[in-house]
Amino acid sequence: MTVTCVFGMQWGDEGKGRIVDLLAAESDFVVRYQGGANAGHTVIVGEEKYILHLLPSGVIQPATINIIGNGVVVDPVTLMEEIDGLVERGIDLDGRFFVSDRAHIVLPHHKTMDEALESLRGDDALGTTSRGIGPAYGDKSRRAGMRAADMLQPERYEEMLRANIGAWNAILDKAGLPPIDVAAVMAEMRVMGERLRPYVADTTAMLIDAYAAGRKILAEGAQGFGLDVDHGSYPFVTSSTTGPAGVAAGTGLPPKALDRVIGIAKAYVTRVGAGPFPTQDTGPAGLQMAEQGHEFGTTTGRPRDCGYFDAVLARRAVLTQGVDAVALMKLDCLSGLSEIKLCTAYELDGERVDAPPAWSGDWERCTPVYESYAGWTEDLGGCRRFEDLPEAAQVYVRAVQDVMHTPIEMISVGAERERFIPLPDGVPDEPVPGETVPAQP
Ligand code: GDP
Ligand code: IMO
Ligand code: MG
Repeated sequence: MTVTCVFGMQWGDEGKGRIVDLLAAESDFVVRYQGGANAGHTVIVGEEKYILHLLPSGVIQPATINIIGNGVVVDPVTLMEEIDGLVERGIDLDGRFFVSDRAHIVLPHHKTMDEALESLRGDDALGTTSRGIGPAYGDKSRRAGMRAADMLQPERYEEMLRANIGAWNAILDKAGLPPIDVAAVMAEMRVMGERLRPYVADTTAMLIDAYAAGRKILAEGAQGFGLDVDHGSYPFVTSSTTGPAGVAAGTGLPPKALDRVIGIAKAYVTRVGAGPFPTQDTGPAGLQMAEQGHEFGTTTGRPRDCGYFDAVLARRAVLTQGVDAVALMKLDCLSGLSEIKLCTAYELDGERVDAPPAWSGDWERCTPVYESYAGWTEDLGGCRRFEDLPEAAQVYVRAVQDVMHTPIEMISVGAERERFIPLPDGVPDEPVPGETVPAQP
């Protein structure tokens, strides 16, 4: 396999960073293709925990080259903080980290505008991460954005910046909010441009060359299918194409280059921010998932809502994104539930619904049709083979595979690198008898 995409199948935070870190060991390049610092990807190696917002999750593997592709919106302030933080921890990025010269920049006022637009929405606020994502992609689409290349040419971008800020100030003026200070933004961007300079490159050329040479490239998605700007629960979505369809546009690699798509899905579902979530459980089960899964936003610290696995969402992700294999994450966090529900369809106004409705209001009104599975009490952290799992867990995982019509080729049972069960041929048809190995502390 030359080009593989890893993307989230739910509403983000599925565990993409952890899987990208694992696969990066066998990849020459890891490239982020969309999103920005709204992402928070966690990699845990031994005692060390890394939270990455912009840097690709391949940075911890010493031999991997990491690229921020043209499809990402880059907040240089966050990026530099992240680079400095890694350097302090002894991780050197020299010569193995590059930012596309065509990547759009999240300017300081994009973050201000993100918050202002949210407060103007009042009760209809989307619950964004306040990272300036919507305004930055908005500027990109209306052809008023600034790109990394522009930051290296201050004399070129000052005029663009004035025009850009002028447009936003008109909105702020209408909303009775103070205007953005053009001079302050310019001063900050001049400093940031110099810091960014060593990393800015024609990453499209680098990737095309790498592809032609048969080198292994891993494309790392941020957010998830339910947050996709086209296929997600619009308008409660992010502003980018989160799945493999975004890889070509966001890297410059040809669409045909992609030869493997790995969907990342939790064994349950979480969501931060507003929007439909039919399988949310606000009772003890949901609370238990939140506690066991430490479900707090990596970027914002907000508590994540939790609920049962939603096969309507997962099937739509499989069918539209061409998922070859699924990595099922955080199975260990379901231990201790007496019953585990699996949503196989929705019901809306008395009718069965097998695909997410277009209007988020309808999606909100959908009620899940559940199958019920027995839970288990064992700690799964020490399981490394399928037969190590308690039979109830085997049955549940098999059911999840069946409703997705896609092989689960890996089960994750812990946040640490080694805590997973490889399943190269998917989940076996029948439960596999075996003794549960003693759980690790
Ligand atoms: P991402 O945004 O998709 O990369 O996911 P996040 O890093 O935001 O959230 C996933 C969280 O779950 C992180 O804290 C991970 O360390 C943790 N995690 C990932 N896989 C597992 C797993 O299998 N079991 C447990 N208990 N935690 C996991
Ligand atoms: P990772 O990559 C979970 C959500 C926000 C909000 C909506 C729009 O870590 O999985 P935005 O700031 O993008 O305009 O917010 O999208 N959101 C995420 N939720 N994980 C993420 O990233 C997210 N990035 C954005 O909470 O509901
Ligand atoms: Mg996250």
